[in-house]
Amino acid sequence: MCTLVLFFFARFVVLSNISHLNLAFMFSIIFFSWIFYCRVDYLFSLWQFLIFLFHSFAGLSFKNVNLEKSENLEKHRTEDFSTSKSLVVRRGAPFRVSLQLEGRAFNPKTDSLRIKVMLGRLYVAMPVTFVKHASSTHWTAYIEPKGLNLQSPSIYISPPATASVGSYRFQVSAFTQNNQKTRASGRFILLCNPWCPEDTVHIPFEDQREEYVQKDSGLLFMGTAKNMVSRPWSFDQYEPGVLETCLNLLQVSPQHQQNRRMDYLNRRNPVYISRVVSAMINSEDDRGVLKGNWSGDYKQGVHPSLWTGSSDILRQWTQSGFSPVKYGQCWVFAAVMCTVMRVLGIPCRVVTNFNSAHDTNGNLLIEEFYSETGKKLNRSKDSIWNFHVWVECWMTRRDLGKEMDGWQVLDPTPQERSGGVFCCGPAPVKAIKDRRIDLFYDVPFVYAEVNADVHSIVLSEGRVLSYSKDTERVGSLICTKAVGYPRHQSLTGDYKHVKSPTSTISSRSSTMSDGSTLRRAGSSKGVAVLLSLDKAPVAGEPVRFTVKVINKQNVAKMMKVHVNAQAKEYNHSPSDTFWETHGVIQLAPMEAKVIPQQILPAQYEDVVGDDLINLAVVLQDMASQERVLATEEFNIASPELVIEVAKESSIMPGKEHTATVSFTNPFSHQVSGVLTVAGAGLLQGKVHFRMSQLRPGGTVQQGITFTPSMVGTKMLQASLLLTNMNSTIRGFKMVFVNRA
Ligand SMILES: *[C@@H]1O[C@H](CO)[C@@H](O)[C@H](O)[C@H]1NC(C)=O
Ligand SMILES: *[C@@H]1O[C@H](CO)[C@@H](O)[C@H](O)[C@H]1NC(C)=O
Ligand SMILES: *[C@@H]1O[C@H](CO)[C@@H](O)[C@H](O)[C@H]1NC(C)=O
Repeated sequence: MCTLVLFFFARFVVLSNISHLNLAFMFSIIFFSWIFYCRVDYLFSLWQFLIFLFHSFAGLSFKNVNLEKSENLEKHRTEDFSTSKSLVVRRGAPFRVSLQLEGRAFNPKTDSLRIKVMLGRLYVAMPVTFVKHASSTHWTAYIEPKGLNLQSPSIYISPPATASVGSYRFQVSAFTQNNQKTRASGRFILLCNPWCPEDTVHIPFEDQREEYVQKDSGLLFMGTAKNMVSRPWSFDQYEPGVLETCLNLLQVSPQHQQNRRMDYLNRRNPVYISRVVSAMINSEDDRGVLKGNWSGDYKQGVHPSLWTGSSDILRQWTQSGFSPVKYGQCWVFAAVMCTVMRVLGIPCRVVTNFNSAHDTNGNLLIEEFYSETGKKLNRSKDSIWNFHVWVECWMTRRDLGKEMDGWQVLDPTPQERSGGVFCCGPAPVKAIKDRRIDLFYDVPFVYAEVNADVHSIVLSEGRVLSYSKDTERVGSLICTKAVGYPRHQSLTGDYKHVKSPTSTISSRSSTMSDGSTLRRAGSSKGVAVLLSLDKAPVAGEPVRFTVKVINKQNVAKMMKVHVNAQAKEYNHSPSDTFWETHGVIQLAPMEAKVIPQQILPAQYEDVVGDDLINLAVVLQDMASQERVLATEEFNIASPELVIEVAKESSIMPGKEHTATVSFTNPFSHQVSGVLTVAGAGLLQGKVHFRMSQLRPGGTVQQGITFTPSMVGTKMLQASLLLTNMNSTIRGFKMVFVNRA
């Protein structure tokens, strides 16, 4: 009789689908019924009865989902994103979440689970299976039956290697035999997976993945090929808010705004993602991150040379509600793009092309004009930038075929429209080398940047006095930071079929590099001129160079020699002459003469900073009026800040350490300025110090303290803005933070 009452009561509870709140009340009633029941009938032990009760009455109910962050981040190599609120995982590998239950335990025999994974309005729903099953083409979810914890079962969610990148939501639903349903939900961020062989961004070596995906600092190469400047840059992937901003960049893109569904679907493909990002880094045509400015006047924003890392730029963009940050130039655009790609899990590196041609009419020919005294004239629309910086991303090109897999050029600097939008690439580096100008995207443009010929013309009153051709200047060196070391690695051979190395004599000599140029200049006689720097110029020291004049004929000659130096910015025509010398020399038949020259520090000091020098010599045979030209462009290496870290080999996270930044004034006058020290993972934000008047030759030292928050190789960087010179001195030091 009691059993019957209890049974009907049980049916009532189950059928009425009681809520959790009522459960407690129900339980007390059940408890008293049990006391009554036990007195009458001792058939059930207490334990059996409890199990009976749980299975009959207590529903399966989720308290919450544990995202198992520390385990998943470690397995997915996203540990450095641990300060982000979200769970960050990579596609092509399962991650584990565990369900925290309330009420009874999970019963694999009678309960079933389903998962729904959502990206915007797109979703995929799947059953949770009891066999381990991961697929490279579709989403799966499973429970490992071995060692299953019935109180808190773990579900593995396995995104395919082709899943779209983005910020996902998921929902787990449980169904009991009695058709009860309970739900819990969570979120995760899904990135590309260069560790996964099925992923289109898979890159085979661990040191490359470390350098091109995980490393949050690097070097940008600038200046000239012969006197390269390595500028430290902090990519800042793991700084607060950067991950979220990079995902927002995809959300703000016109592609997403126009068709969310298509955009989410396309986000599985790195070719698509990289092209969207390349357009979104500049602010032409969209609400992109950076506004470019090459005017020399940056009062309304930040001088492009003053940025030291990507997080300041990305943070400012987010905080302003996605209005463009002022101002960027090529290396800033490239470095910020590198941050975004590394965050998204696409291997990326910043590449510098020295003497980069910008061929506006596509004839693979750049013309330069000089006056008869060696002054470079501003006449041509085509231009050569002393350097240009872009990025390369690593991916397979299923759209082009296997032989185009590997590094792809992407250029976020707004130069020319591609498909109606300022973006460039991905252009396979292999296609550039093999001149496959039929292939997507933008191969002809990049091909010209590394391969155009330069024609140098000496003019007088509109008349061509001399003409020469240089086939080796453009793309003379293409390089990136070496894997694992703070130095450059040449990529020239990846872009071009490199000819056998030429002699050490300057290849800039117009007459020596190509014999045909003399004939094309209409000269039958031979004179030659060579211009060569004794060594890479250093600030504070004289710039020493020689002009070598050769009489190739068997007659004595009188020659006029004009040497001219102009300052220039890396992508501009030179400004006015700041130094020149003129003279007349006499050469015996077949004689060669070397004329040493120097420009003193006081004469070039205005050029220090990021400016370069264009040096030209025009030689004039006074008898024949024949002219020959030789030119050279170079930068003056600025002094560096020296950073020393105390107890370098025992740096630990969470402990305070000290470093010293020192600077010696190489200039002939006093300097003063502001020293800024930063270091992602070492210092929070930046610290500034004022430096008062420092006499010529004087040294100043500044101590700093830092407390690392991450492990691994981190960059401590310092920059000193010399306020009375408008130039910046930089330095960096790689610091290895040991695991505690
Ligand atoms: C560059 O910046 C200056 C001042 O900061 C501004 O007047 C000029 O319009 C800017 N040029 C472009 C192309 O935005
Ligand atoms: C060169 O000429 C162009 C117009 O042809 C002008 O816009 C530019 O400012 C000039 N640059 C210099 C450095 O004189
Ligand atoms: C530094 O730059 C500012 C603004 O661009 C200018 O007014 C000032 O004359 C410059 N100073 C020097 C020493 O070049």
